[in-house]
Amino acid sequence: MDNKTLKDNWHIYMEKPSIWHNKFHLEMPFGLVNDPNGLCVYDGKYQIFYQWNPTGCQHLNKHWGYTTTTDFINYSIPQLALAPVDDFDKNGCYSGSARVKNNRLELVYTANLKDENNIRYPRQVLAIKNDDGSFSKKEILVDDVPNGYTAHFRDPYLFKHSNRSFFIIGAQRKNLTGCALIYEEVNNTWQLRGELKTDYKDFGYMWECPNFINIDGHDVLIFCPQGIKPQGHKYNNLYQAGYLIGTFNPDTLEFSHGDFHELDGGFDFYAPQTLAHNGRNILFGWIGMPEKEAEYPSTQEGWIFSLTVPRELHIKNNALHQSPVNELDALCQSAKNFADTTSLDLSTPCKIALDIDLTEHNFWQGVFKIGTDELIVSFDKDTQEFCIDRSRLSLGGQGVRYFTVHAEKNLHLDIFLDTSIMEIYCQSGEKAATACYYAQEKLQQIPFSSNIPANIKISQLNSFKFN
Ligand code: FRU
Repeated sequence: MDNKTLKDNWHIYMEKPSIWHNKFHLEMPFGLVNDPNGLCVYDGKYQIFYQWNPTGCQHLNKHWGYTTTTDFINYSIPQLALAPVDDFDKNGCYSGSARVKNNRLELVYTANLKDENNIRYPRQVLAIKNDDGSFSKKEILVDDVPNGYTAHFRDPYLFKHSNRSFFIIGAQRKNLTGCALIYEEVNNTWQLRGELKTDYKDFGYMWECPNFINIDGHDVLIFCPQGIKPQGHKYNNLYQAGYLIGTFNPDTLEFSHGDFHELDGGFDFYAPQTLAHNGRNILFGWIGMPEKEAEYPSTQEGWIFSLTVPRELHIKNNALHQSPVNELDALCQSAKNFADTTSLDLSTPCKIALDIDLTEHNFWQGVFKIGTDELIVSFDKDTQEFCIDRSRLSLGGQGVRYFTVHAEKNLHLDIFLDTSIMEIYCQSGEKAATACYYAQEKLQQIPFSSNIPANIKISQLNSFKFN
């Protein structure tokens, strides 16, 4: 696959009949998409890269796919930015990040190399964008794994703190616990400063995709620990994506912080990445989960996984809040209000804004009829628990997820319903939850019913455009 073929055929690929392709989520017409990578602003445009295997629905052959946008609605036709064709990255151009330095777009990624015994040799590599739009791999910035750590050493994320330049990278200690290491750029070289010192000294066997950012004046570490066991309603996905809010001391690498919280209450969310621009922090997550390909029947159509809508991050009451960026409002074609209704027919893509009056009710339940199946969402005022129940879907991942939402008098939900993805935002960003659902055939309508009357506003949404 080359960029000219992609460009010339993009609209043909996109018109291929599909039951499940989404309309306002970034995804590829074929192959496997995973982590968002290299998010930044360059040349007045949001730069969006992502892990992409353009040759099949397996975790192999990882390239960096690439698109740009100024409004999160119109995107450039996706291209390939990095391909695993060099000796040092032949087992994948793994995740990494980007920055603009001296007016040049720089990418730093993990070059994955495995020998015949499957032993990994990860290297951290700098690539740049050339004037003609192509990318060149320039230099190996970190050639080996530091002493004390295993070859699970990947996903550098560039950040600035106190006017100094760092990257944080996921690592595994020799005692098989996960952590993150900090490198600092000093005189144009990258020097290992040491481990980020957190209170989570024994928290999973590997931390993937760390991000270090400042949100509303707080230092925030986002990371993906692997190997955490479920605890009641927490940590029910195979791997977690969560955050710590605190204060970082760049001299001692001490990070004093609160508790770990999951970023998304749903089933299909991992490896998010954020970008900071003009005081805004914007996050994209991967809608998917490693090792769970069997839960995503879109492989039958030759593609798998998507990115979430971009979410703006804020900190309120010491918790991270996420709401779809307001640029997405421009996707709305029309909006209709329904007062005190208990049933409606939905057609995707749409946004459903619900106001549920809880003053006289303790339990709300909404049922989406997916053909002959059902997806059920509910809220219990007594336990303050929101529930997404996919156990009555016959295709794809099933199960139930619960998460806490604070609501006494009124529950406000914004549900972004795409062809096979539902993103639910509770109480204007207090909680976000992502769930894929797969209808058995292409649906014209999704009947929705509520056990108590609710005020509902439905907006039909346009599709993303690629030009
Ligand atoms: C997370 C991850 C990263 C790695 C990439 C490979 O999903 O496993 O740690 O760099 O995916 O595609």
